[in-house]
Amino acid sequence: MVTFLSLLLTPLFTPSSHAAQESPHSISFYPVALNHTTYITNRTQGTHGGIYSAPVHRASDPDENDRYNYCTMPHPRPETYVAPEPVANGSVAATLVYVEYMQRHQRRTPYNLLSELQDQEYTCDDVHPHIYAAPAPDNNNPAPIPVYGQTYTDPTNPFLTDTIPGTCQYPQLTKGGILDGYRHGRDLRAVYGGNSLLSETGPSSQVWLRASSSALTQGSAGAVLRGLWPDYNGGIALRRQTEGIDTVDSGFTCAARERMLEQMKAARVWREHLGVTMVLREELGEMFDISEEEEDGAWMNSFDHFADAFQARVCNGYGLPCRAKKEGEKEGENCVTQEQAEEVFRAGDWEWNYWFRGSDLAKEYIQLVGGLFIGEIVRRLEGVVEGRPDWVYSHTFMHDGDLGPVLGALGIRALRWPGMGANVAVEVWRTDGEGFYARVLYSGRTVETIHGTMEWMPLGELLEILGGFVPGDIVSMCED
Ligand SMILES: *[C@@H]1O[C@H](CO)[C@@H](O)[C@H](O)[C@H]1NC(C)=O
Ligand SMILES: *[C@@H]1O[C@H](CO)[C@@H](O)[C@H](O)[C@H]1NC(C)=O
Ligand SMILES: *[C@@H]1O[C@H](CO)[C@@H](O)[C@H](O)[C@H]1NC(C)=O
Repeated sequence: MVTFLSLLLTPLFTPSSHAAQESPHSISFYPVALNHTTYITNRTQGTHGGIYSAPVHRASDPDENDRYNYCTMPHPRPETYVAPEPVANGSVAATLVYVEYMQRHQRRTPYNLLSELQDQEYTCDDVHPHIYAAPAPDNNNPAPIPVYGQTYTDPTNPFLTDTIPGTCQYPQLTKGGILDGYRHGRDLRAVYGGNSLLSETGPSSQVWLRASSSALTQGSAGAVLRGLWPDYNGGIALRRQTEGIDTVDSGFTCAARERMLEQMKAARVWREHLGVTMVLREELGEMFDISEEEEDGAWMNSFDHFADAFQARVCNGYGLPCRAKKEGEKEGENCVTQEQAEEVFRAGDWEWNYWFRGSDLAKEYIQLVGGLFIGEIVRRLEGVVEGRPDWVYSHTFMHDGDLGPVLGALGIRALRWPGMGANVAVEVWRTDGEGFYARVLYSGRTVETIHGTMEWMPLGELLEILGGFVPGDIVSMCED
């Protein structure tokens, strides 16, 4: 029986099958041409099967194929979730014993504001960002009033033109983002809840919840956790490291990290991507009065800012921006076209793939950006193997810049910009007699990597892959 079992337990860890590559999910998540700058300039690529729109005041509907959706990335949900193949078909008996879940915050307003036509101002009156502090509960003091922030602009403020009039504190979460969070949590409850992993009533001591220092991730946590525990009444401690040395969201200072980014931006292929997009960048720069020099060229030397400004609009029910009206111009005369926006999104995807997959320096860069966080995950997974897990469910609310390194370390076949609510689930399964196996999901489906599809692999192999990205002595690496 033992030999029979070991035969069946041959790791299902093979290059992705042709069928898997052709599903609408797979096509949209893993563009074959993403590694080449022609991906950016080839207009027939469009959004490459991706979705860039979301409803305003309600949650996004799940896409039946779980296609790439920048506004609301798919997540594990009961309609599509199945146990790993050998477990599902009964050839292996295994129990899910640990889940390491990490996600980007849900959708939000932009970080980067364009001097655009104010025909569709951002309004956030339908969101109450709470901002109160309370003494730890005791009998001597009442709880404080739950005050929340409400943003306004004063018409006499002489700096008004530096912002967008409206009622948002950029880049705050939008109502749609919060409602997406509820759904995200409800679906996770349906998939992982109701067993020893996640109790139905509220977080046990076996659950670890963590966020970055940002209001975006903390606000997302409140929404997602409500979905996880709809009837829970108490408060929940959301762990966070000290802001100046946080291992997520580039919390610790690291000169080498910044220098390496500069080095990556000096490479021939990076300059090539700027070359092939020169006309696009000039058109957009002219439209919004942005010069190469502005903010040290931040709008012009990568697609981060334009992509962010456009995504935040289309992901919250607004149209693409138009330039502010000038002398002699008609209203809405000069607007970003769908084609321009799609090229910006493709360029953004190309850049993410470059930083964490394509560049020769990707491995070192991942170590400097995400290596410490990856190291924390590795230690937790080792704890599971050694039979002394600290907890059985871990959920970290973080940023695109934290998911990129994790996906890069996994060796994802192609890395598009991890959109709002993007998530990775590392599942650890204990088999009868054969030790621990892992399955890794990216946005609800098994991740496709250069090592194969991570449907069923000995946990030790996963630890080996991730271990290569854990820096030895990051303090001296950062000084270099
Ligand atoms: C452009 O993209 C289309 C659609 O993906 C593809 O079929 C075509 O081969 C690409 N053309 C070039 C020149 O890369
Ligand atoms: C179950 O799935 C595994 C992995 O795909 C496969 O190797 C095995 O043959 C399947 N067993 C049965 C009984 O279908
Ligand atoms: C991706 O592009 C880099 C150069 O940026 C190159 O070194 C690498 O071999 C390419 N990978 C693939 C799979 O084409």
